[in-house]
Amino acid sequence: MASTGAPMSAGAAVEKEEAVASAVIANPHADLAEIMPSLPTAPGFPPYRLRRYGGFWHTDLYLKFIGASHACFKPRPTDVLLASFPKTGTTWLKALAFSALNRAAHPPSVGADHPLHRNSPHDLVRFLELADQDDDGLIYEEIPSPRLLATHVPYSLLPRGITGTKDGSGGRIVYVCRDPKDTFVSFWHYHEKTTATLQRMADVGGASAAMPTFEEAFELFCQGQSVAGPQWRHTLEYWEASRRSPDQGLFLRYEDMLLDPSGSLMKLAAFMACPFSPEEEAAGVVRDIVELCSLGTLKGLEVNRRGSTMLGLKNEAFFRNGTVGDWSNCMTPAMAARLDGIVAEALQGSMLTFGASSKDEV
Ligand code: A3P
Repeated sequence: MASTGAPMSAGAAVEKEEAVASAVIANPHADLAEIMPSLPTAPGFPPYRLRRYGGFWHTDLYLKFIGASHACFKPRPTDVLLASFPKTGTTWLKALAFSALNRAAHPPSVGADHPLHRNSPHDLVRFLELADQDDDGLIYEEIPSPRLLATHVPYSLLPRGITGTKDGSGGRIVYVCRDPKDTFVSFWHYHEKTTATLQRMADVGGASAAMPTFEEAFELFCQGQSVAGPQWRHTLEYWEASRRSPDQGLFLRYEDMLLDPSGSLMKLAAFMACPFSPEEEAAGVVRDIVELCSLGTLKGLEVNRRGSTMLGLKNEAFFRNGTVGDWSNCMTPAMAARLDGIVAEALQGSMLTFGASSKDEV
């Protein structure tokens, strides 16, 4: 099917995407790369050309991965996949999970010898979707078990080997979520810092012509037109999966992690099958990992102040102020109410809410 490549309204895009996707879903082995040009496109925020597939918006890079990974990614029962919507705490989760899982080889107290002192968390825990698409996933075959991987891909579009089993053979998934208002504001600042690189990256996925204003970006975000958006649908899928199979899915909240980093780390380690022993706790290992992975420590490291990581992105772009409620410094109350309303409507009947856990959930 030929494509005009012309952007369309969100409503028309949904209809067209559903027609194309229903044909593909009937055949899970269909080559997504081939039908990509026929998928509806729209401008997104950050300013990529996005294509709609499976109910979400994607760059071409993601779509190629989704297509390829279904054919070649082989999960292992010991895998831990760190999943998130962008700008919700991915970098922090990567640092914590890496440090907890590798604390025997790399004690957090060794200072400058710890891998986090020399590498971005993004170089220590790679995104599945940024693998070389042409090597048949071999890069992941070479990683020793237990593998720690990351993804922004929606749950329903992950390789079937990960999500299609109930016996644990697909590994475990840890998801971190964050209030969409803070996510959007974090995205906005990240976008400002990475615009030049984003435009170069956009060669992979296709750039949309114009740089959006804050208000335009907000509108795109509200319509779900961001990488892997809409955020609320992304989160809902992982939340439901973690409720269906709590042994295979851990659902964390950025806001809870800020309130209780030690408790969150202990929960994470237990879920990854490497719980802290009472002796480790007494020796301060939990405290040391929390300190090592804190925003203040990571942001101040030379590697994160000057280095760069995947796709040439500057490490420093991933560390800002890491607070709850920063949205109130950038959004009008009307904008906040509008986004809250969209999210509430989309989550109606699901019992999922954003923000810190309610008391009866903890
Ligand atoms: P803010 O922009 O609100 O400060 P991601 O890692 O998914 O890209 O998310 C980035 C957000 O996580 C940014 O939020 C960033 O400051 C925050 N962050 C990064 N490292 C952190 C850490 N070690 N502790 C707490 N927050 C962190």
